[in-house]
Amino acid sequence: MQTIVAFALPPYETDPAVRKAAKLIQQGELVVFPTETVFGIGANALDKNACRKIFEAKNRPIDNPLIVHLAAREDIYRYAGSTLPPYAKLLIDRFAPGPLTIVVQNSGAFPDVVTAKLPTVCLRVPSHPVANALISAAGVPIAAPSANRSTRPSATNARDAWEDLRGRVSMIVDSSMTPGGIESTIVDCTGEHPAVLRDGIISREEIAAAVGIPLERLGDTRPTITPGTRYKHYAPDVHVHAVRSGENESKSFSRAIELYRKGKNVRVITLNKLSTVPAEIQVVLETPEAFARSIFSLFRAAERDGVEHLFVVLLPEEGIGRGVNERIRKAAGER
Ligand code: TXA
Ligand code: MG
Repeated sequence: MQTIVAFALPPYETDPAVRKAAKLIQQGELVVFPTETVFGIGANALDKNACRKIFEAKNRPIDNPLIVHLAAREDIYRYAGSTLPPYAKLLIDRFAPGPLTIVVQNSGAFPDVVTAKLPTVCLRVPSHPVANALISAAGVPIAAPSANRSTRPSATNARDAWEDLRGRVSMIVDSSMTPGGIESTIVDCTGEHPAVLRDGIISREEIAAAVGIPLERLGDTRPTITPGTRYKHYAPDVHVHAVRSGENESKSFSRAIELYRKGKNVRVITLNKLSTVPAEIQVVLETPEAFARSIFSLFRAAERDGVEHLFVVLLPEEGIGRGVNERIRKAAGER
C-alpha cells in the first residue's frame, strides 16, 4: 500500500490534506493524524471492516478495544446519553474538548471490533485543531489508538508514525509535534465514583478537583482493568532502566558511569541536571510537562542513535509525573 504524507496547514476546515484524509476515512481507509496527546491511527468507528484494518496495521491484539474520537462535546451526550452520572458531566464540562477519555455504557452504536465486546466504550473529544477538522469533515466518529506498532513507543510526530506504519496506512497527516506527548487520561464513568484507569495528561488531582468527590481506588473494589494494560507497551529496542530516587539512584548512576567508561553507548534522561553524571550523556528536561512531551520521541531517538543503556530518572509521583512514570516503567519491562 502506498502511504501519502501531507502537511496540514490552517485554515484546517478547507485544507486539502484534511479534506483528502476525511475522504479516505469515509472510504473505509486508515489515516494517521495528530491529536493534542499523541498521533492516532484512525478509521470510521461505525465501519467494522475499516476498524479491523487498524488491528492488522498495528499488529494489535483483537481483545484490546479502541477509543472513539468525536467532533464536539455534544456528541458525547448523543452516544452516552442517559447513562451518564452527574460527575461525568462535570468532567466533560471541564475537560472536553481535551485529553480526557471517558468510559461509558456502549449504546450499541459501535461494532464489537471497537469495544472488544465489552458492554462499555471509550469516548474522547480531542482539542487538536487538525483532529477536530478531520472528524468534522469525515462526518463520522473516528476510532483511533496511538499510531505505533503494538508494543512500541507512541508516535508524537509524523516521522515516528512513518517509521512504524509506512505501507500500512493510506495517509499520514503531518503537523507539528504533539503538545501533550503522553496519552489521554482514561476515567471510568460507569460506577458510583469516577475511577482513573490510565494516568495521562490530566492528573488525578485535576480530575478529583473537577468532580468534588473521591475517586474510586481500583484494586480495592474491582480489578484495575483497561485491557491494554495487560500487554507489553511503549518499549523501544533499547535496554531501559527506570531509576527511582533514594539510595538506588546513586547506585544506578554509578552503573551508568561504569558502562560509559567501558565504552558502552549510554544515555541518561533526567528532570534535573545531575552533578555526578558526565554532561555529554545527559538529556535534561527541566519540567514534568517537557518530560511528558519528549519522552516517547527520546525513546525512539535513543534507538536510532544506537544507545545500549538508557537510564530514565522517574519523576515525583504526582500530577503528570504519575502518567510519565507509568510509561517509563512499562518501557523498562516492569508491570
Ligand atoms: O491520547 C490518547 O488516548 C490516544 C490518542 C490517539 O487519542 N489514544 C490512545 O489509544 O492512547 P490506545 O488504543 O493506544 O489506548 C487506549 C486504551 C487501551 O489501553 C484500551 O485497552 C483502553 O484504552 N480501552 C478502550 N476501551 C476501553 C473500555 N471500554 N474500557 C476500559 N478500557 C478501554
Ligand atoms: Mg497505545
